[in-house]
Parts: sequence; C-alpha cells; structure tokens
Amino acid sequence: MSIDAVEPCTIAIFGAFGDLALRKLFPSLFQLDRAGLLPAQTRVISLGRDDGGLEPSALVANALHEYVAAKELEQPVLDRFLSRIDWLYMDFLDAEAYHTLAERVGQVDSVIAYFATPAKVYGGICAGLASVNLAERTRVVLEKPIGHDLQSSMAVNEAVARYFPEERVYRIDHYLGKETVQNLIALRFANNLFETQWNQNHISHVEITVAEKVGIEGRWGYFDQAGQLRDMVQNHLLQLLCLVAMDPPSDLSADSIRNEKVKVLKALAPISGEQLGQQLVRGQYVAGSIDGRSVPGYLDEENSNTRSDTETFVALRAEIRNWRWAGVPFYLRTGKRMPQKVSQIVIQFKDPAHHIFAPEQRPLISNRLVIRLQPDEGITLHVMTKEQGLDKGMQLRSGPLQLDFSDTFRNSRVPDAYERLLLEVMKGNQNLFVRKDEIEYAWQWCDQLIAGWRRQGAAPKPYAAGTWGPLASIGLISRDGKDWYGDY
Ligand code: BG6
Repeated sequence: MSIDAVEPCTIAIFGAFGDLALRKLFPSLFQLDRAGLLPAQTRVISLGRDDGGLEPSALVANALHEYVAAKELEQPVLDRFLSRIDWLYMDFLDAEAYHTLAERVGQVDSVIAYFATPAKVYGGICAGLASVNLAERTRVVLEKPIGHDLQSSMAVNEAVARYFPEERVYRIDHYLGKETVQNLIALRFANNLFETQWNQNHISHVEITVAEKVGIEGRWGYFDQAGQLRDMVQNHLLQLLCLVAMDPPSDLSADSIRNEKVKVLKALAPISGEQLGQQLVRGQYVAGSIDGRSVPGYLDEENSNTRSDTETFVALRAEIRNWRWAGVPFYLRTGKRMPQKVSQIVIQFKDPAHHIFAPEQRPLISNRLVIRLQPDEGITLHVMTKEQGLDKGMQLRSGPLQLDFSDTFRNSRVPDAYERLLLEVMKGNQNLFVRKDEIEYAWQWCDQLIAGWRRQGAAPKPYAAGTWGPLASIGLISRDGKDWYGDY
C-alpha cells in the first residue's frame, strides 16, 4: 500500500494509559510506523489521568517491549515512533483542560480522537472537543461496549451525534479488522462458485464458534455487569453472522456494506416464550482445568461476587427470516474458559439430492466449508473423493482442500485487527466500522433475549472450566439432528 493514501494527522488517545491502549493501540501504531504507513508528520497525544505510576513515555516503551516481538522492535523505528508521542494529564470532563489540548494539537488539518474510555464519558469528550473548535476537523473512534442495552446505546450515540455527524464516527468492532474476516468477504464475493450456492437450497446450517481459554482476566467489575451475551454476541458474533448472511452489496462502499448488514439484523427472528428454553443456553464456568492447570470457577475469581448469575457462555439457535436463509439454523456459541482459543465459522452444505453411492461406500459427511479466524487462519473446504487403491472400489472419503494463510503467506505476518482498523480511520474509510443503526438493531435483538431470561429467572447452567460448555448446548444442536463441528 502506498503511504500517499494515508493523510498525516494527530491522534489523540483518550484513556492512553489503560490496558487497551497499551496492549493494542500503541503496538499497532508502532507496526504501522514500522511498515512505513505513518506519514512523517503524524503525532500521537496520550491523554489520561496521573495515577502516580510510571511516566507515560516509560509506560508506552514498556508496553512495546511487552507486546511487540523483540525481533520487530528495531531501534531506529522505536526511536522514531517514541519521538511522535506527546502526553497530557487531563480529566476528560474538565472543560478547561481542552484548551491545553487544543494548544497541543495546534493547527493540523486532521485529528483522530480515539475513545479508549468507558462510554459514559464519550458525550463529555465530544463536548470538550467542540468547545475548543476541534470538532470540525476531528474523526472520533468509539470503543465497545457502546451502552448496556438499546436505550443506553442510543443515549451514547445521541450524545456523540450532537457534535459529530455519522460520517466522522468510527465504531470499533475489532473482529471486523481480522484478516480472515476480510477474507470472508473476498471468498464470498470474488468466487462465483460459492455465491451461487450460498442459500437455503444448498446450505443445511451455519455454526459460529468463538471460544476463549481465558477467564475474565481481572475484569470482574466490567464483565459481571455485561456477561457473555453483551460482551461477545451483541457485537462480534452478530457481525460475523451478518457477513456470512448478507446479500452481496452493490459495491464495497461503507454504506452499501452496512445497508446489507442492517437488513440481516432486521430479519433475525425474535426468540421468546417456550423457544427460549430450546434455543438458548446460558452457562457459567465452575472450577476445572485447562492445559493440565487447575483454574478457579467464575464465582471464585478475584473480586467476585459469589452470588452472581452472569453468564460466561452462550449458545443459541438463530433464524433469519428472508428468502436466502429461510429454514437454515445459525448456531452461535461463545464462552470463556473453554479448552481452546478458536474462532471459526462452519458452513455445512446439504447432502446431494440423490445418492448413487451405497451407504457403506460413503461416510455421512456432506461438503463443509470451515473459515478459521484464529488461530491458524485459513479456509478449508471438505470435499468427498475416492479412496485410492485397487482394493478400495468406490469407497468414498472426506478430504480437505486447504488454504492455510500462515503457510501460504509464510513471509508476511498476520497483522493485528487494530493495525488495519487504525489505518482505515486514517484513510477515512468507514467500511470496517459499525454504523449507529447496526448497533441499535443488534441491541434490540439481544435485549429481547435478556428480557426473556429475566422473566424465566433460571440460573446459568454450570460447566467445568476446560470443557465446551454445558451439556444443554449439545442438546440445542442435536435436537435438530446435528452436532457442533469440532476437529480442534
Ligand atoms: C473483547 C471482549 O471484545 O473481545 C473480551 O470484551 C474478549 O472479553 C475479546 O476476550 C476477544 O477478542 P479476541 O480478538 O482475542 O478473540
């Protein structure tokens, strides 16, 4: 890519001394600098409170040493990158502080304000930027979670919209920046082979699994208020579902793509009443072991509230009410403390309409497309072939046609999602960001699930850490005569 496509700007990171900025934003900006994608004039202003800890420049340098591979931390690039960084201690709700910020920003044409803070201060930051006339030349980047439900997310969006038009609002869902998510769009819309088969005539069902080995990593305060449905389904899993299910957009512009995604969200069938018990499973991990190491249960995590009924696992069966997907279940599953970290989408095709092979000649496997987001990014198409050998007759077997990105593109590292997303903001390209109405339709659908749970009053089902979730999640799919695909 040419650096010409990226305009110089000043990036103001609000919440620059927090975990997200140190773990993801600075390392990603460093990688962009290393790849020659940061124009010479681009600067970063780190904003946050003085908590009496390390000096900001030392904090950033330490974070780079921790989160960037030693061999990539070339000294000249490191020196150049650190020289771009300035910092300012400020209270984001103190109107006076914005005058100092405006002085630091100076007369540059383009500013990116990255909000790595709780959403409740987004409105205050926007007002502060506007009060010193920075709003007109600023794009704002909003981190999730944007609200806790439809109402609160609308309040956040409205507070931001008072000062920033939608064309300058970039809502992050970092899954949209993942390499294989990008490849899903290429696979679907650059290969006629798939697009013609991508509907209820040929597809039996779709599975989306996002499993994590980690627990809540000291984030009890946030996570216990949210739970896995709000933390993962409302955003990452529904975005993946949209990309799998949307109709082809007429072009790759942000609005064409987002219009198609919104249509999918609007077509999601509500799940209510008796269906809830059948189509939705909530789980909470209890003590178990992962990689041979004992790990505590959710209720025994640091700072826990031992009576919490927050879910750390969700499995659900969704339906999309449109011509393309009528009758095709979408099974979604995500959990903490599972045996492996794996995110993948499985497209299970239907059996051939008529079998010319006897049952003993063929294993019961129809074509399956597995799109692996992480780890080992790649795409595998399982196809039926014949066993080799004179003695095998017409014995069939299922074998993989494999596109392994880490092997195929051995010399190029897979960029972190945040690198791509930051670059797209700098280029002013919104197509990997979530529009206001997408977030709101996603909340609307999730809110009705949460309200249904509340009415039922049922506690989440326990599962041992290191397992694939409560048994009921197997029941959810086996009831339809299917099972979770799992050659992990
Ligand atoms: C975040 C969630 O959005 O995504 C975390 O808040 C989760 O709870 C994380 O661990 C998973 O991201 P990734 O890229 O590691 O799959």
